Amino acid sequence: MAQVSIRKVVKAYEGGVQAVKGIDLEIADHEFVVLVGPSGCGKSTTLRMIAGLEEITGGEIAIGGTVVNDIPPRDRDIAMVFQNYALYPHMSVYENMAFGLTLRKFPKEEIKRRVENAARILDITPLLDRKPKALSGGQRQRVAMGRAIVRDPKVFLFDEPLSNLDAKLRVQMRTEIKKVHQTVKTTTVYVTHDQVEAMTLADRVVVMNHGIIEQVGPPQELYHHPKTRFVAGFIGSPAMNFIPARVENGSGALRVTLPNGITVPVPESRTARYQTAAGREVLFGIRPEHLTEVKNLDRDNIAVFELTPEVIEPMGMETLVHLWLQGAEVCCRIDPTTPAEPGRPMQFAADLNHMHLIDPESGKVL
Ligand SMILES: Nc1ncnc2c1ncn2[C@@H]1O[C@H](COP(=O)(O)OP(=O)(O)OP(=O)(O)O)[C@@H](O)[C@H]1O
Ligand SMILES: [Mg+2]
Repeated sequence: MAQVSIRKVVKAYEGGVQAVKGIDLEIADHEFVVLVGPSGCGKSTTLRMIAGLEEITGGEIAIGGTVVNDIPPRDRDIAMVFQNYALYPHMSVYENMAFGLTLRKFPKEEIKRRVENAARILDITPLLDRKPKALSGGQRQRVAMGRAIVRDPKVFLFDEPLSNLDAKLRVQMRTEIKKVHQTVKTTTVYVTHDQVEAMTLADRVVVMNHGIIEQVGPPQELYHHPKTRFVAGFIGSPAMNFIPARVENGSGALRVTLPNGITVPVPESRTARYQTAAGREVLFGIRPEHLTEVKNLDRDNIAVFELTPEVIEPMGMETLVHLWLQGAEVCCRIDPTTPAEPGRPMQFAADLNHMHLIDPESGKVL
């Protein structure tokens, strides 16, 4: 097992595309780190450089303290699971899992021990004699993971391993992967474009965008304390609302004015932080769950105002209310038992303890 260090790593493809623009990341031994971001942001490129499948243009990568820039993939002691994992169709599950070890001339007994152990962890012992064509998608995915586990590598690398599975199976395998990591504890770097997968699996999430790292942190930290507009909007579903607003300094107290004229007071704990934004245009950021029907007002820093729902979406455990403030779409989350109707004004409460102000030019959260 090992830590992975990524230092000032750059990848420029031929033709001048800079896919990765000098990123730094320290991954601890046993840690499960997820790289997440939109298509083309450089996730796979980063993973493939760790694996050695892609040459590094600049900077260095170390695994377990050894710089691996010039070490070929097979000598890096990593195991990779891709989206398109190809199992050998003519081999049994056992043989598929044993194959890599056989090539590396492991003793038969040791191979048997490792395959049986991996099969137990993945709950596929009864399938060891089957051929891949006699397996379901999820079972095949388990075998692909089994091949990685038997190698007992220093690092697991996953590139969107679940994206070929249907939604239900994806959720099931996600739990499975987490369980496996809790058992084997191998340092893992996992790539996905799905923020829910990232949040649920990761010890730390790395949000990438256009070849840079926007923010690194535990899931809850990214959710509650995003540092940029990009992270604020990418993590969380439905996404955070961004409402164009103005910060004003009136009679010693800061307030934020929304496009429909509603003003909300800035909580005292934040006035020092937002003072420099006085007189400026900002984006007022608030998550749907912090914009809800008025229920318990026993908390500080709640602002109540009237808005008119335009679209109501019952989700079962919650109801989403959509409305527009002078062109800015706003989503609110209310209790399914709360009566709400399109076109009928109702009272909403904004929990300002969870508000964000964003500089629209730099995209930084203030
Ligand atoms: N072999 C290549 N030659 C030139 N450009 C490439 C090559 N591979 C990737 N790129 C470019 O590098 C950028 C990053 O690609 P990468 O595959 O790392 O993205 P990704 O974050 O994994 O996206 P996705 O979610 O779509 O898999 C993209 O702009 C892509 O077009
Ligand atoms: Mg990719």
